[in-house]
Amino acid sequence: MKNKYLITSALPYVNNIPHIGNFVGSVLPADVYARFMRARHGAEKVLFVCGADAHGSPVVISAKKEGIPVEELANKYHSLHAKVFQEFEISFDGGYGTTHSELQTKLVHELFSALDRNGFVEEKTTMQPYSVDDDMFLADRQIEGTCPKCGYEKARGDQCDKCSELLDPTDLIKPYVADTGGKNIEMRETKNLFYRMDLVKDDVKKWVMDTAEKNKWSASAFNATKKYLAEDVPNPSITRDLPWGIPVNKPGYENKVFYVWFDAPWGYVSISQAAKPGRAEADGEGGWADWWHGGDDCHYTQFMGKDNIKFHALFFPGQEIAWADGNWKKVDLLKGLNFLNFEGAKISKSTGNGIFLDQAILDAPADAWRYALMASAPETDDTDFTIRRFADIVNKDLNGMLGNFVSRVCKLCEKNFGNNVPAFKKGFETPTRKMDGHLSELTAALDACEFRKAVERLRSMWAVANEYMTEQAPWTLVKDGDMDAAGAVLNECFQMIDFFARVSAPFIPGAAAKMRDIFGNSRDLSWPVKYEWRIQDGKPFVVPENLFERIDEDKIAEMTAKYVKK
Ligand code: 2FM
Ligand code: ZN
Repeated sequence: MKNKYLITSALPYVNNIPHIGNFVGSVLPADVYARFMRARHGAEKVLFVCGADAHGSPVVISAKKEGIPVEELANKYHSLHAKVFQEFEISFDGGYGTTHSELQTKLVHELFSALDRNGFVEEKTTMQPYSVDDDMFLADRQIEGTCPKCGYEKARGDQCDKCSELLDPTDLIKPYVADTGGKNIEMRETKNLFYRMDLVKDDVKKWVMDTAEKNKWSASAFNATKKYLAEDVPNPSITRDLPWGIPVNKPGYENKVFYVWFDAPWGYVSISQAAKPGRAEADGEGGWADWWHGGDDCHYTQFMGKDNIKFHALFFPGQEIAWADGNWKKVDLLKGLNFLNFEGAKISKSTGNGIFLDQAILDAPADAWRYALMASAPETDDTDFTIRRFADIVNKDLNGMLGNFVSRVCKLCEKNFGNNVPAFKKGFETPTRKMDGHLSELTAALDACEFRKAVERLRSMWAVANEYMTEQAPWTLVKDGDMDAAGAVLNECFQMIDFFARVSAPFIPGAAAKMRDIFGNSRDLSWPVKYEWRIQDGKPFVVPENLFERIDEDKIAEMTAKYVKK
């Protein structure tokens, strides 16, 4: 058993509002897992951090487009991210952080000094693409054009999304600036620093093979990593000619900044430093260092979209290894998710296809999105999400199975027994065995970050409750005047509601709180090891407001008109 659990979600770029695909690709599963781990091991053992990835050329270009200073744009979207994540009940420790901070600059300067000192940095002069209209050098993925291999017209400068060919911007036919469409691109000479990834590659390889197998990384994450390891990847340049980012702490580089991927993963550390200040050795237990220097005592899980795997499986651990005396915690379980498509097409701001989080919350409450998205998590493959699917999941699972069960039990009881839980009588059939079976599978699935499996187990538990209700038919027992039997059945149903409040909480924290509040809000919602009877005979209860609302045909039509662009 580990003593600390570190959980990070990929840091979203701060130049737009996340959409449902971004959300289910990292932040949401990370939150479900963090809530589960807190309930299971104690909140004080868990550190779940995320924040904005504030640097990089996409942010600079967006600021130009919006006609505001870069810092203003970064602050604006940082606040918007924080607001939507709060609305979706994301439980970051220490709030929603950012890489644009003094802690981050200090840390990245220490990182660079360590790598430089240890011989992992070299200087080279190269030709880089330059956008004359934007007056800036362009990162590889800021350029698009036609793929020389398959002819796809929107291939990025680093890779073709259609045929997966790794590219160099100079390979592209008819290149243009991705964000503006500008064609005025030239190659200009510039001096940059490069990270000697080749010197740590063998160590990284050894570490990956050991870690991935031991911690059961998903096949797709492991395969992607092995593919990258087999490639002859050139040493990456770690500096950029940009006016925005972390300044380079080396003479001669005053006008450059670090490449965004050089500093971004270290945002996990600096955001932890802000969330849990104080190093353990100086300030006692509970500081960020308990996790980041926790060694084998700490278990570290990372969540990210598949396009981020290379950086988290190779680049970041490579930096950690190169900073030899840093003694940094490396990832144990890397959870890479595929992409969520929407109504048969890619989610894209430019085509207008997809749902962005600031809009989503106006259409349905957080629980509905959280559950429906997790039930559709693109774990093994890219997955298509549709408004019809969303409505079906909310109506059938949440409203039809869980919501109706809770409401029927509470109302039937109030009507026939008043607002105290009736007594349980021994000798009645109980769903214990079935619930325990589902619970152990649910726990194992969540431990392994297998979310679709977990949702299925949860749904099976709700099905057990509904079957129990149907089979025992307490309304018939009431009609027949067998009040002892009816009371015993309802008592069992209340035990199930209490149980559901605990096991559903990682997915639907809002409904879980309402279920908890049925009996007053003081009960602990720790993760159960078995199905148990915690609600005493005679316990007062209140009938809650509906846990969920149905999504009707009018709403489906309204959402379709708003979000689906064919
Ligand atoms: O792909 C992205 O949105 C990146 N901003 C993810 C960064 S993850 C971490 F390393 F910061
Ligand atoms: Zn291609």
